[in-house]
Amino acid sequence: MSDELKRGLEGVVVAESGLSHVDGQVGKLVYRGYDIEDLALKAEYEEVLYLLWHGELPTRAELDAFTDELVAEREVDDDLLETVATLAEADERPMAALRTATSMLSAYEPEADADAEDRDAALRKGRRITAKIPTILAAFERARQGEDPVDPDPSLSHAGNFLYMLTGTEPDAVSEETFDMALTIHADHGLNASTFTGMVIGSTMADIYSGVIGGIGALSGPLHGGANQDVMEVLYEIDESEKDPVEWVIDVRESGRRIPGFGHRVYKVKDPRAKLLQAKLRDLSESSGDTKWLDYTTAIEEYLTEEGLVEKGIAPNVDFYSGSVYDHLGIPLDMFTPIFAMSRAGGWIAHVFEYQEDNRLIRPRARYTGATDAEFVPIDER
Ligand code: ACO
Repeated sequence: MSDELKRGLEGVVVAESGLSHVDGQVGKLVYRGYDIEDLALKAEYEEVLYLLWHGELPTRAELDAFTDELVAEREVDDDLLETVATLAEADERPMAALRTATSMLSAYEPEADADAEDRDAALRKGRRITAKIPTILAAFERARQGEDPVDPDPSLSHAGNFLYMLTGTEPDAVSEETFDMALTIHADHGLNASTFTGMVIGSTMADIYSGVIGGIGALSGPLHGGANQDVMEVLYEIDESEKDPVEWVIDVRESGRRIPGFGHRVYKVKDPRAKLLQAKLRDLSESSGDTKWLDYTTAIEEYLTEEGLVEKGIAPNVDFYSGSVYDHLGIPLDMFTPIFAMSRAGGWIAHVFEYQEDNRLIRPRARYTGATDAEFVPIDER
């Protein structure tokens, strides 16, 4: 057995997966072979979920049945909504509130006793979790605003219903379409940290709730899910200071700090998801007449391209444009990462199911660097 150390498991292949593939050299992302651009622009999130969970794109009848099943699971028990409101009153951080509430969801799970091997029951649990997370998040945000939760509207899509439950107003077509696209492009991305966390948990044949809760925990860290918020904070800072965005970038570069929303472990060219979001940001800016965030982000990207940073492989990633898009949709800053979780839950569930089909307990080793021959001294003699 080799003792070669691979810090952070970088480059280590630990599983086979047919779910998503990232080609970081050309900037291509596929889900089950379908280009992310096609899925983002031509399919809705529910279709993408079906593709990830069932292996192929649904027919119209399959999609209708699948959507009905999701819609039927949107409601969350009143007791749980009260806990969500308590968490909001206690000023709990949104990702921690989501983690707690998702954990509590399993107490209301009608098939809690089903084995993880029972694939049909596991899929139904996955559907319940995916359908209820938006209800939990919207209720949490409304409670923070001192508002009651809004009941889900079965006539609306997964994306449209979330925006409706969040604001109490039915979203316009552009907002719904934009948010649906954001859900699609965040749904899966190979073996990132949160997906791998879910897989490790799934490899013990623990139930799918535990896998999703583990994923939420991993995504909450600033090295994984938080960069979109960082970018938005920068844009606010530029706005408040009335600085020219390019001046801000120059200052950051001189101080040796990193530009949030730039660079990626896998992509060495512009992230295809950033291109899609940038186009949406342009549409939203033009339709609202508010081009501030578009102007700032464009100026920053143009400057860094001229400076050669992009050519060096430090290009805009998905987070560079997502924050401004969410801001246009009226979504509060600290809900950006929870929304990422709401979408990525679909990917976590798909990976856990895929892995469990040919399961092998994930159990790596550490290279032991501690003492080997310490002499035990009884406690009263130490
Ligand atoms: N701004 C300026 N320089 C950068 C940036 C950046 N955003 N990102 C990387 N670099 C530079 C590093 O300083 C380093 O330069 P050096 O070789 O002269 O020391 C070089 O690029 C390589 O950096 P690494 O940290 O080795 O690259 P890695 O692949 O590990 O980093 C990461 C990827 C963490 C995403 C990094 O690019 C970063 O910190 N970006 C900013 C935060 C961010 O946007 N994160 C979101 C990623 S997308 C997601 O998780 C959904």
